[in-house]
Order: sequence, then C-alpha cells, then structure tokens
Amino acid sequence: MRHPAVPTTRFYQRCGIRDADLRRGYEACRRATRTQGEIEYAVSLLMPPPLRIATWALLGAGYCVDNLVDAADAPGGEIGSTGEAGPGRAERLEAWISAFEADLRDGRGTDPVRKALIHTMLTWNVPPGFLHTQFEELRQDVHGKQCATWQEWRRNSQLIVVPFALRAASLLLRAAGLSAEPEAIAAGVPEAAMAWQTAADAVYLTDSLVDLSDDLDRDHVPLPQEALDEAGVRRVDLLARRATPAFEDMVRHLADRARTCLDRAPLPRVLHPAVSIAFDTYTDLYRLCLKTVADAPAALLHRRPALPRSARLRLLLPARAKAALAWGLFPFPIQPGPPPDPVPVGAPGKLGLAEEVRPLAAQRRPIVPPTPHPSGARPPKLTAEAMPRHVAIVMDGNGRWATNRGLARSDGHRAGGEALVDVVHGALEIGLKHLTVYAFSTENWKRPADELLALMDEIPKGLRRLANDTEPLGVRVRWAGVRARLPADVTEALEDAERATRDHTGLTLTLCVNYGGRTEIATAAAKLARDAVARRIDPGSVSEHAFSRYLHVPELPDVDLLLRTGGDQRTSNFLPWQATYAELLFLDTPWPDVDRRDLWHAMEQYARRARRYGSVPRIPAQPTTLTGLH
Ligand code: IPE
Ligand code: IPE
Ligand code: MG
Repeated sequence: MRHPAVPTTRFYQRCGIRDADLRRGYEACRRATRTQGEIEYAVSLLMPPPLRIATWALLGAGYCVDNLVDAADAPGGEIGSTGEAGPGRAERLEAWISAFEADLRDGRGTDPVRKALIHTMLTWNVPPGFLHTQFEELRQDVHGKQCATWQEWRRNSQLIVVPFALRAASLLLRAAGLSAEPEAIAAGVPEAAMAWQTAADAVYLTDSLVDLSDDLDRDHVPLPQEALDEAGVRRVDLLARRATPAFEDMVRHLADRARTCLDRAPLPRVLHPAVSIAFDTYTDLYRLCLKTVADAPAALLHRRPALPRSARLRLLLPARAKAALAWGLFPFPIQPGPPPDPVPVGAPGKLGLAEEVRPLAAQRRPIVPPTPHPSGARPPKLTAEAMPRHVAIVMDGNGRWATNRGLARSDGHRAGGEALVDVVHGALEIGLKHLTVYAFSTENWKRPADELLALMDEIPKGLRRLANDTEPLGVRVRWAGVRARLPADVTEALEDAERATRDHTGLTLTLCVNYGGRTEIATAAAKLARDAVARRIDPGSVSEHAFSRYLHVPELPDVDLLLRTGGDQRTSNFLPWQATYAELLFLDTPWPDVDRRDLWHAMEQYARRARRYGSVPRIPAQPTTLTGLH
C-alpha cells in the first residue's frame, strides 16, 4: 500500500471524486487532520481509500471549522466576518453551523469543506446527529469553559467524545462487513460500551494534555480545577507557563491515569483483521504519545508534543504492511457507492446531491424555526455558563385546573398537552438541548378507572399532535418508562415518534410515560445482575457511569433544573438518579396555564443559583444574562 504525501487527482478519482471543489474540500480536511490529529491521520492511512477520505472529512471538517472560527479575521466573509471588528468566535461558529445545516438540507455544500462533509455523510448515510456532537465540542471549545470537577469533565467526555468515537467505530465496523450501529453496541453490549467509554476517556485526557499550549494561548485550562487542586498546581502559574515541580508531577500522574484507562479498555474484537490492526495501532500510538508527554512535561506548556519519528515508524511501518496484507486477503467488502459529484449551484433542471442519490436528506422535511409567542415575548439571552443543559418538568395540576373550571379532569390533560407544545417552542427559541417531562407515573395507575381510560385515550392522541407540531422543528423524541400495563397503541405511538425523529438534533424531548424512578433503578440493577451472572460484566468494575448505562435512556444527561408546576413541592419519584444535583424550582401555576415565558423565567432564576457540587465557590459570580429581551 503506497501512501503518497499528497494524494493525486487519480487517487480521488478512484474514490469517485471528480469535482475539483469537492476534491479541494477533502484536501483541506486531510491537511487539518494531519496537523491536528496526527494519530487519527496515521490510522486513516491504514484504511482503504474510500474509508480513508471519509475519516478525513468527519474529523478534518471539525478542525477546519475550529481554525476558521479561531481566525480573528476569517477571509472571504464565508464565516460571517468581514475582517473588520466582525462577529466573535461564538457567532462565527453559529454562522458556520447554520450554513452547514442549510446546505445539508439542500444536499449541496456552498464551500469546499462543507461539500466534502456532506458528501461523506450522504455516501455513508451518517446521521446528522453525529455532527451535532462534534458541534457541541466546538461550542464548548469556543466558550473555553473550565470544568470544576472530574465528574463534569467526564460528562463532556461521555456526551461528546464517546458518541463521536462510537460513530467513527461504526464506520470501521461497516468496513468489516458488520452493520453494527454504535447505539446498538451501546444498548446491546454494555461491556463493549464501557470499553469505549474508558478508551474515550483516555483519548480525551491525552488530547487535553497534548493541546495544553494551544488552549493556554486562549487563556483556557482544559483540565478540571479539581485536578489542579489535587496536584497543588495554580492556574496563574499555568497561564504564565511556569513549569513548577507540581505541574510536572501532575502531568506524569495524568499520563499514567490515561495509560491505565487504555490498558483497562480492551476494545471489542472485530471480525476483519485489518480493523483489529487499526484499533491496536491507534491505542499503541496513544501509548507512545503518553510516554512522550510524561518524558518532557514542561514542553507541553509551549508546544504540542510531536511523536518521536523513529518510534512512530517502528509502530506504523509493520502496521501498514500488515493492514495492506489483510485488506489484500479480505478485500474491502463495501462499495459505498459515492453519490455523483454535486452539480454547480443553480444548474438548471438538476437536483442536489441529496435528492439525486440518498433518501437521507431528501425525505426529511425542512426544519422550520419555532413559532414566536403570540405576546411577542422573546427569550432572555443567558450566557453559555448560565444556560442549563437539561430541564426536567413535573407537569402537575391538570386535574385541579379542570375541576376549578367545572370541566372533566381529562379536559385538563388535553389542555396540558397544548401547554407542552408552547413550552417546546420556547425551549427551542432559547436554545435548550434537553427537555424531559413527566407525563404519567407508575404510581398514576392508582387513579380511578375512568380517568385512566381517558388518559390512555389521550396520551397517543396528544403524542401524535405533539409529534406533528414539533417534528418540523427538528425535535428528537425519546421515551423513558416501562411497557408493563400500557396499551399497545400508546407504546406504538411512543416508538413511532422515537423512530421518526431519531436523526433530529434541535432539542431532545424525553417523555416520561409509565415512568417511575425506583422502577428505573431496580430494572437497571436487575439487568446488571443478569450481566454479572453471565460474566458479561465484572462486579468490581461497576461504577456510577457503568451503572447509568443500564438506565432507560442512558444518554440522558444529569438534570440541571427540575421544575414542578401545580403548587406541590415534591418530586414524586421523578428522575432520582439523574436529578441528584438538580436545582429545584416550584411554581404554583397549574400546568395548563404554563407557557414558554414561565420556562424562560425559571431558567433565569436558575442562572442566578450558585452550584457548588459540595465544593466551595472558586470563580467569582459572572454576569448571567447578556440582555433582557422581554
Ligand atoms: C398531572 O396532573 C398529569 C398526570 C398525573 C397525568 P394531575 O392529574 O396530577 O393534576 P392534579 O395534581 O390532580 O391537579
Ligand atoms: C406527578 O404528579 C406525576 C406526573 C405529573 C405525571 P402526581 O400528581 O401524580 O404526583 P403526586 O400524586 O401529587 O405526588
Ligand atoms: Mg397531580
């Protein structure tokens, strides 16, 4: 297998790429991957060409956007800057993401990098949700938020690195002729999911060390404050790039920690030998990188460490030879059938990439913006720091609302459904990522039969109305709860909504229907016990994270703000695992009278709370609201 330093036009033609702009896009992604993801680039060279360029596009586009956003005066106005006192980094990033989303809907890229990324996504049918995780990473990077605790840091790893690693792995598995989706690995083989998590933590930690000097350039410390405190390293010393003994000890300790994670994460054995070679090379290169880091900790303060050339080649040359042999013996089994090159924008009578070849984008209805509130109210602007990621609501008070109006309780439930639609619009307007609502609890079966009948009649109807109203907004629906006792049309409506919206990225709306917190924990414990008996999991390795993989919706982040309407001040068995550190807020308003303005107001109150997580405040209070737009 030859690896030309710069791939030729013929190389790209063999991958089905003839359009010059598209080739330029792939080249930009390749160059960015080579400089910013040295290890990933080296591993990409062990792949057959179609998979190699896909890796460049998926990884490199992120790096390209990062660089463009970083450039104080991005040229050409593509990112929205004119070179004068243009928009800030965050605005430039949002402008790029919006342009990308518009391009993806049309199936054509309006700049070379977007073209390459969209081409790869359509070719490999990569769901847009995958990119969402990468955008989140970029957003966090732009805001340069320092985590206070390891827990917070791990949460970033879980939310960002793992989904990304899983998706990248799924491309490899597909290459090996396995059609395993990462979500399936995560749900069906918890042991594999945990191995991924541990490996991803190691990669994330290594990258945090390797990128230290770049981050310090931006006054950002990529390690949790807790790590600095434990090691006795002062932030001021770091920012001044003072290589104290405490700093050197900390780096060696963290490198050791990352290495232990790598050793503890035996990646799943896959069938295709070349894929195993790639996995092994990847982890070996990370080990080499950690050794380089630990050998010269002080250098990290000034530059990214380069892998020593001879050691790198000692690993890579045999890996390349073995991979070439393996691909030769077991040829690349999948012809992804790259879509034809995009037609020039505006070419008469021609369809875009998506309409022509892939149902992915063509079948999706265009995402529409949320409808403004009739009062004209606009959401307050919260700083990124003050913005909750996950709001959970106990939608209580439907029955009393109806009774007070001389109506049937079922009328209250219907009115409650309408309130939820408005709140979802408001959540989208303010940019909330996760909204979870309590719609029916496992305790609610104690209600009179006529109310239960009315509720079981109303839930699927309400759900279809909700799905119809919110689907065009790009809302992803999830169901948390148990099947037992629910009529089939209710479970079908929930599962249909989940399926129809699984690629949506705007807001994740988790509906807790037939949900009970203790049931959720007991069910998770039972599954875990079964896995332990079957030796699929080692009881000694059960951590909080390992346990959470067994919950109804493992990806559900911790609740930041838990809101209950209707006047009662209790949580009624709602999300006990996820809401242990949530800020609680109780409103007297019955749920049917609530609208998006109450959500926004609650979020403003949340923004003023000081969250300490058992620690003491380190950072002086920041302004939480940018502008009140009410
Ligand atoms: C919450 O409203 C909705 C469900 C539990 C289904 P309620 O029905 O509990 O209303 P109140 O608390 O009786 O007013
Ligand atoms: C909690 O409300 C459950 C839902 C909102 C679905 P309940 O009305 O059932 O709770 P309690 O009975 O007041 O605790
Ligand atoms: Mg109630």
